This record gives sequence, C-alpha cells and structure tokens, in this order.
Amino acid sequence: SETGCLSIVVLGASGDLAKKKTFPALFNLYRQGFLQSNEVHIFGYARTKISDDDLRNRIRSFWCVFLVACCSIMLMTEWFYQIKYVSGSYDTEGGFRMLDKEISLHEEFRNSTEGSSRRLFYLALPPSVYPVVCRMIKLCCMNKSHLGGWTRIVVEKPFGKDLDSAEKLSNQIGELFEEPQLYRIDHYLGKELVQNLLVLRFANRFFLPLWNRDNIDNVQIVFREDFGTEGRGGYFDEYGIIRDIIQNHLLQVLCLVAMEKPVSLKPEHIRDEKVKVLQSVMPIKDEEVVLGQYNGYRDDPTVPDHSNTPTFATVVLRIHNERWEGVPFILKAGKALNSRKAEIRIQFKDVPGDIFRCKNQGRNEFVIRLQPSEAMYMKLTVKQPGLEMSTVQSELDLSYGQRYQQVTIPEAYERLILDTIRGDQQHFVRRDELRAAWEIFTPLLHRIDDGEFKPLPYQPGSRGPAEADELLERAGYVQTHGYIWIPPTL
Ligand code: BG6
Repeated sequence: SETGCLSIVVLGASGDLAKKKTFPALFNLYRQGFLQSNEVHIFGYARTKISDDDLRNRIRSFWCVFLVACCSIMLMTEWFYQIKYVSGSYDTEGGFRMLDKEISLHEEFRNSTEGSSRRLFYLALPPSVYPVVCRMIKLCCMNKSHLGGWTRIVVEKPFGKDLDSAEKLSNQIGELFEEPQLYRIDHYLGKELVQNLLVLRFANRFFLPLWNRDNIDNVQIVFREDFGTEGRGGYFDEYGIIRDIIQNHLLQVLCLVAMEKPVSLKPEHIRDEKVKVLQSVMPIKDEEVVLGQYNGYRDDPTVPDHSNTPTFATVVLRIHNERWEGVPFILKAGKALNSRKAEIRIQFKDVPGDIFRCKNQGRNEFVIRLQPSEAMYMKLTVKQPGLEMSTVQSELDLSYGQRYQQVTIPEAYERLILDTIRGDQQHFVRRDELRAAWEIFTPLLHRIDDGEFKPLPYQPGSRGPAEADELLERAGYVQTHGYIWIPPTL
C-alpha cells in the first residue's frame, strides 16, 4: 500500500551525512507537505548513547543559520517532535529488536483501524557495515506483513573499491534483499539538469538528428571544485577522484547523454539503455588519461606522506556503437581547482564548406551547466550587430534563475528520498549498471593503486596539470578564444 504509516529510519543518525544531507532533506520534504505528520515517523539509530532531545539538538545546531531564517519555529518544533532516537550496535540483534519495537508501536498507534507498514531504512553508514546491518534489518525489522506495505533499503556510495569488492558487496546484500527493495543513491541523478537530460534529448526535434557522430565532435563532462579534501583526507585518500566522482557521478551523466531512446519511461527501460552504453565503452588507453595531485594534498595529517592518490583526472572514454564511434567522451574531475562547477559541453563539428572563414571564431557548442546557476546555452555564430558584415560568437541562453524566478530548485537528496518512498527506481543505480561501471575503471584503478600510474603535481587554484589541456586538444576539443559566457544577473 502506498498510504498509511511510514517509518523512515536513518541509520548512522549521529554522523555527518545524516546531519548534512539526510535530515535536512527530510525536513524540507516535510515543510513542503510531502511527509504528513499523521503518517510519518522518523527514527534515528546509531551507537552513541544519547537521548531523543540530544539528537534533535545536534541536528538543530547544524541548521539554525539557514533554517531559522526561512521557516517558522513552530514547524520545526513540530517536525523535531516526530524524531525518535534508538541507540544500539550495528552487529547485534538487541538494538534492532528495540528499533523494531519502537517502529511497531508507532504503527499500531497509527493503524488502530487499518493501515500499512512501510519501512524505509536509510544507511548513512560506511559500506563496511552494510552487509551486517542489512542482515539485522532482515532478521529483526521487516515490515509487518499482515499490515502490508514494504521494506526498502537506501545505500550510498562507495559501493566497493573495484569490480571484485563491489560484486562481493552486491552479493552479500543481494542474498538478503531483492533488487526492487534496494535503492543505490547517486545524488547526481537527483540534480535538476541531470533529470532534464531525458526530456531534452527525446522531446525536442532540434536535437534528434544532430545527436550523433556525424555532427558532434566531442563531449566533455566536467566537475571542478575550488577546495581541496580538507577534513576528509583520510576517506579520500583510500578512494581518489576516479572512485569519488568519475566512476559514479560523471559516468551516470555520460549514460544519459549517450544512451538510445528507451522503450518507455519505465525505470527498467531507462536503466536497460544505460547499461548498454556502459557495456559499449572500450578499454581505457593510458595515453588518454592524465592524473594530477595538488601540491599540499599530502600536508593533511590524515594523508600518507607518499600518497599516490589522484585528486584530479581527465579520462577519455570511447563508446563503440553506431551512434558514437570516433567521438571522445572526456570526463574530467578535480579538487582544489580555480573554480567550482559541473557541466556537460557538447562540441559540434566545423561547418563544411564555410563561406565566412570563421573557423577561428569557434564551433557550435551546447552547454548544460548543472551547477552552480543551472543553465543551458548554445554557443552560435551570428552577424556582428552593426553596419559591418562580420561574424561573432554569441549564445541562446536558458538560465534557470532568470527564466524560473518563482521556482526553488529542490536539493538532489529531497527528490531521491521522495522517489524511494514512491517506489520509483528510475534515478537509482541498478546492480548490473554498477557492475558495468566498475568494469570500465577497475584495470586503471589497480594500476594507480599499485603505483604504476603516477599523478602529476599541480598548483591549487589552477586549471590542473597542463597535460590535461593537451590531452583535451589531442582528443579534438577546440577552445574558443576570446568568448566567455557570462551568466545573466537578475
Ligand atoms: C560527493 C563526493 O559524492 O560529491 C564529494 O564524495 C564531492 O567529494 C560531492 O564534493 C560533490 O557534490 P555536489 O552535489 O556538491 O556537486
């Protein structure tokens, strides 16, 4: 049943992810009327022995700055009242039995006449405990079948470190829960302009005939951050930029840019097409990879002095199919660079038989800026306005801030949590997708881990190693000099 009693359990409730992402997303859903207080109850579970109020205060202390400003204290108090905390360990039954008792009490109270038992478990925990926690949930906390409803599990990356460890994790969890019960979050799939890709591509005649190797020269999917790994160097050093950003976030975006039209909008149809793209990616060539590590990265006390972990990478992927053969997909991600943004840049080929001799003025580009300031713009050549007959680069621009002034774009986590409640798996990573993603990157990752492939140093605040720009040029990207898109101001 999709109505009736809903219990949302945040495991790892006292941790960072829960505090920064999960609880704020839950509150925002509540604020917008999606989590009715007569149906929903939120449970926090963690090892720390604290009271309900302690947990509420922890959440509150992180929030006060931005939330108090935008909503009434009464609403917040009401919401906090829905949160119950249960403490217990992750690998013994005691705590989970207690948790089940609390959830059941709530269900009985709400369902005195009729109702259901919907239980959502959000694992804001390190993946090493996923298997044991899933086992405990299965053993002690499943929804009460006489009431109907469901039990769903939400997990976050990192799903393993390479193909073998990911498959092992998938097997362990897969023995306990069926695929429709598992929601593997990749929060990039919750971003507005990532969700828009399907609409853009398949609902616009403009793009249909152009979206292929005959017209597109190269595609870049870029993630940049202008800060380093401060505060999480320990975690980061074990994973590196490829596992942290490229193998998941950027590769998911690549799938949506490159996939064929799905049979329908059913999640399985969409995910079938994504898997096909991943399976068509050819082995990565050494000469199409540039790795970097910013100077100062190893100064972090939690990072080993001789760390070989890349904080920057440019990797060219080649898709071996009819639509994309010969078109490089350049994935680039870096920490401590000169700007913070994420965008997809589709560069078209030169116009054949050009009569304006405007080659050096730049190619057509279609840019989708995921963040900040969501926007799409098409770089195109127009006549320079005025008396002279000369050409100039300009743009058709759809900037969301300007075009949709009354709309607040939801946070990725809000959308995704709502999807898990509604049972929509479209924006979650299926097991075979995950496997195919690891297959692409595992050989390269092993060579980096073994120290055979070394990152080049770069200055924090720069564009990354110069070799990455050279690789971009070799792959066919032509930079437009003298043109820069300026996001419109309101
Ligand atoms: C996370 C990575 O998945 O995504 C972080 O672990 C990164 O390293 C973050 O900073 C970026 O997310 P967003 O939504 O700010 O682009």
